[in-house]
Amino acid sequence: MSRSYYIAGNWKMHKTRAEAAELAKALVSQLKDGKHRYLVAPSFTLIETVASIVKGSNIRLGAQNMASEEQGAHTGEVSVLQLKDLGVQTVILGHSERRHNYKEDDALINKKVKLALKHGLEVILCVGELLEEREAGKAEQVCETQVVKGLEGVPAAELAHIVIAYEPVWAIGTGKTATPEDADVIHAFVRKLIGKLYGADAAERITIQYGGSVKPDNAAQLMAKENIDGALVGGAALKTDTFVPIALFA
Ligand code: 13P
Repeated sequence: MSRSYYIAGNWKMHKTRAEAAELAKALVSQLKDGKHRYLVAPSFTLIETVASIVKGSNIRLGAQNMASEEQGAHTGEVSVLQLKDLGVQTVILGHSERRHNYKEDDALINKKVKLALKHGLEVILCVGELLEEREAGKAEQVCETQVVKGLEGVPAAELAHIVIAYEPVWAIGTGKTATPEDADVIHAFVRKLIGKLYGADAAERITIQYGGSVKPDNAAQLMAKENIDGALVGGAALKTDTFVPIALFA
């Protein structure tokens, strides 16, 4: 398998500038010989601070969201141009907290995906089912809709800049991880779907991260699965004690 592992930390709405700087510095030093791809995604207010620390390291700089418009009268939003100005390379879009708590729908997420790609950002597109959807046997269907609608109008040439993160909503922040087997079923399903939409080569190449209570003691088992190419880590990304062992998993 030629895909490389991609371990990302989503810091969500945590940390002050001083705390973020401390974590970023420690990660730069402790991950410098790491063999995988890395990313941190701090809150907007922390990006400039973290940017100056990760610059030139093997840690990419991400944002957790972005406006669907390039600029204009959008009080409280942050634009792609503003993110690029700070050195952001990647943006997480369609996170379940955005979908469910802030009512972002597939059409809005799709607009953001296309805008981010237009400006040369890498996109981590998050998909995942609610517990009641899983219990109703609809996990695959929900993920299919979110992938198809999220990528609507995205040409094959842009697919190299797309990462998909499968984050079952019931596993986020709950301490309940999908079993490696259950996660791999959805990852394989999503990969096959990418194959239908973009061809076999694209399916083979696309990175699909797993997210949802990834911890040092379950990372290696998850990553061992054929279709799991990395992790999008929330709670455990907030401390070097927990993020570094995930990032350096063997
Ligand atoms: P937890 O690792 O805290 O479950 O969060 C996962 C997540 O939502 C990453 O985007």
